[in-house]
Amino acid sequence: MEQQEPTTDRRRRNEVERRRNFGIISHPDAGKTTLTEKLLLFGGAIQQAGAVRARKAERYAVSDWMAMEKNRGISVTTSVMKFNYRDFEINLLDTPGHQDFSEDTYRVLTAVDSALMVIDSGKGVEPQTEKLMEVCRMRNTPIITFINKLDRDGLPPLDLLSDIEEKLQIECVPLTWPVGMGKIFRGVYNRYRREMNLFRPGSDRRVDDGVKIKDLADRELDRLLGSQAGELRADMDLLEGAAAPFEVRHYLSGSQTPVFFGSAINNFGVRELLDALVEMSPAPLSRETLTRVVSPFEEAFSGFVFKIQANMDPAHRDRIAFLRVCSGTFRRGMKVMHHRIGKEIAIANATIFMSQDRTNVEEAWPGDVIGIHNHGAIKIGDTFTEKEPLAFTGIPNFAPEHFRRVRLRNPMKAKQLQKGLVQLAEEGAIQVFRPKGKSDYILGAVGMLQFDVTAQRLRDEYGADTVYDETPYTIARWIACGERGRFREFEERNRSSVFFDADDRPAFLTSSEWRLEHVMEAWPDVEFYKTCEQA
Ligand code: G4P
Repeated sequence: MEQQEPTTDRRRRNEVERRRNFGIISHPDAGKTTLTEKLLLFGGAIQQAGAVRARKAERYAVSDWMAMEKNRGISVTTSVMKFNYRDFEINLLDTPGHQDFSEDTYRVLTAVDSALMVIDSGKGVEPQTEKLMEVCRMRNTPIITFINKLDRDGLPPLDLLSDIEEKLQIECVPLTWPVGMGKIFRGVYNRYRREMNLFRPGSDRRVDDGVKIKDLADRELDRLLGSQAGELRADMDLLEGAAAPFEVRHYLSGSQTPVFFGSAINNFGVRELLDALVEMSPAPLSRETLTRVVSPFEEAFSGFVFKIQANMDPAHRDRIAFLRVCSGTFRRGMKVMHHRIGKEIAIANATIFMSQDRTNVEEAWPGDVIGIHNHGAIKIGDTFTEKEPLAFTGIPNFAPEHFRRVRLRNPMKAKQLQKGLVQLAEEGAIQVFRPKGKSDYILGAVGMLQFDVTAQRLRDEYGADTVYDETPYTIARWIACGERGRFREFEERNRSSVFFDADDRPAFLTSSEWRLEHVMEAWPDVEFYKTCEQA
């Protein structure tokens, strides 16, 4: 048997510093799946590339989705993709998009240390990217930008940068710059390495390294690019004057984003991106708890649950809780405190997500994600530690954007419905709102698929056959007011709009932005929140 190395401070430091944990934010069709596959290819995790595609290909039908969730291989590997690049261990956390866009998509971003933003050069900033960016801004998550599809005609690069700056309120610093686009795309000039990377359409692997250009006046540039060399020189002159210098501290504080151009499908610009990611993006960061900040270098293990995946094995009502390790070392079989329920549990059967050899991994480090099998005792936001009672913060519920009233087909099943909704809300599968004193349930979701999955799970797991009715609501905000009497008055005057969520926190549901603004103006002492921390 292989001797296990003792965990010295040095080893711990090394394991933390060589880890990177990030998610991709993008609008559907910008190229997230393609880029993910290319990143995995570079990391030598080639066998997973098919799984990413396969999942996307079947994304439209709920029945397929449910069937797929049963397939442990696919759902596990696509939730967290771990791969190595150079000396680094990278955890790429999947941010579900398209039809399976859900509250999980937002919540995954609360578990990453940095993000990669993919923008389609033909479209610029699109709505879903704006929404995801809003979540990143909550924790000032550092963001690297990849502008994709340069092999197609798109918007001029400077317009793309000002679009990002304007819509996302983040300063752009292009570290590479494209020469032409579409049919006349010749490649990208790497401003910090001073080299020209030439584009060869269709080649899946770049064979040659970039051509070093000592000076932009270098004749080599004319030989390589012909008349387009002049354009590049003019662009560079313009950038020198107009673009801010890149400063790592501004990137780390989320106020500046380094920008790279390329074409994921042609594997072009992907290596530069990955190099930047491991060199610039932060190693696992400290995380706040209710009582103190936890450093990843601490010896004692701690972590929090940011996602729960059900139906891994429906026969056993099996669920996997995804836990992000925040400090210490996780060792298979170790005992940890589950603080919310005040019990010690042995995590004997944790899954550690590795692309290569899952069975041989016995330990996990800060930045890694482990999967804990459970039967419903774990809730989103739960903290696990070796001993010290802690509660990590910053894993909130996000205001739903779609609403349905749920109704039983058979009224005798009210208990089953109630039990199902309580558990599904705890898992973060759906949000539940109830008007005061009525037995009505309004379900809230961030993505429409959440409703289909909820109905299916209520029927299969809880025996509650339900139908949905439309509701007038389109917006929800959690509400608070320092003064009790005033809050009661608000509740009284807005009786049809005040609801209570699964944790009994009051929320205001309304039908339009206009109405919300109107009410906010009329009640300046009531606070309205788009997110709400778990109870
Ligand atoms: P997503 O996960 O963000 O939704 O995007 P995905 O990678 O699936 O890419 C969306 C479409 O854009 C795909 O085409 C993909 O091939 C294409 N694409 C990705 N990167 C590039 C690129 O660098 N250049 C060009 N020209 N196209 C790119 P599709 O027709 O929807 O799917 P498929 O038939 O290619 O699978």
